[in-house]
Amino acid sequence: MNYNLAFIGFGNIGQGFAELLLEQEKQLKEKYGIEYKVVAISTLTRGTVYNKNGLNLKEILKLIKKGEPLTNHCDVKKGWDALKTIKDSNADIVLELTPTNIKTGEPAITHIKTALLCKKNVITVNKGPIALKYKQLMTIAQKNKVMLKFEGTVLGGTPAITLGTEALAGAKITEIKGILNGTTNFILTEMEKGKEYQSALKEAQRLGYAETDPTADVEGYDTVAKLVILANVLMDVNIKPSDVKRTGITKISLANIKKARQNGQVWKLVGHIKTDNGIKAEVAPKMLKSNELLANINKGMNGLCIKTDIVGEITIIGAGAGPKGTSFAILNDLISINRTLKGINI
Ligand code: HSE
Repeated sequence: MNYNLAFIGFGNIGQGFAELLLEQEKQLKEKYGIEYKVVAISTLTRGTVYNKNGLNLKEILKLIKKGEPLTNHCDVKKGWDALKTIKDSNADIVLELTPTNIKTGEPAITHIKTALLCKKNVITVNKGPIALKYKQLMTIAQKNKVMLKFEGTVLGGTPAITLGTEALAGAKITEIKGILNGTTNFILTEMEKGKEYQSALKEAQRLGYAETDPTADVEGYDTVAKLVILANVLMDVNIKPSDVKRTGITKISLANIKKARQNGQVWKLVGHIKTDNGIKAEVAPKMLKSNELLANINKGMNGLCIKTDIVGEITIIGAGAGPKGTSFAILNDLISINRTLKGINI
């Protein structure tokens, strides 16, 4: 199958995925029969390039890495913004990779809606739209007979969404508890070693873990968004971010951490939802016993304990942030779309 891809947003994650696509080109073709062309890249600050026969991705990556705008490129489309690119390009898969806005979900919600209404499949790692409008967007996708995939919104490259929707499809999930944010876990791990909060945050930003505005990470909004996504997608509830009690990590001091350690405990930012006796959802720093599983998930790693009715508790641990893992999730969504389309065509 041949796919025309359009990138909406070309920051850390977009560039990471472009590199992964180039790296995996041969294997995608040989193993899955997937061939692709990147036909459009639309950025907010560097312009839009479009070529219906395919852009030279290597060349564009080089320009971007040098910090140059796309305005001098031969495929530049003056006056094209994200919406025009979604509507007027010949892309059949739109990659919505703009920065997350957890409060409004925009402009990503509009990008995704527009693409679905134009009968284009969408892959996104943007948490805002899925946390705020999951049910509405899925209904639009179904009505237009296209797919909306968002594996990378939770736990980056560690498969949390498909673990629930596919591997655990026959089970009822009653409780989810986890470390869902790489930035805060990295900061708390570094603070355990005596590093100051600010320099640990800087390092998390350098590693590409943090959101464009890291307030979303350290004040717990990012964890709230992920918990809401897991709840609405895997637990068949319909909650909003405002239904989750939220506390961030900004008030945790080195002294708090030292004191916890003296008592054999570790501070972690934990997201927790239970649905067995009414819905209870909270994101807050918790002091965990140092021999507990979640207490031993460190640095940018994430972990998720999922309680089910039939198979008891399932735990997964893996990288939860950073361009590489998140790009991997996009790649898997692409393979999954291909699998479904091939099935339909047989
Ligand atoms: N800022 C997020 C984190 C990125 O630190 O986990 C992955 O969603």
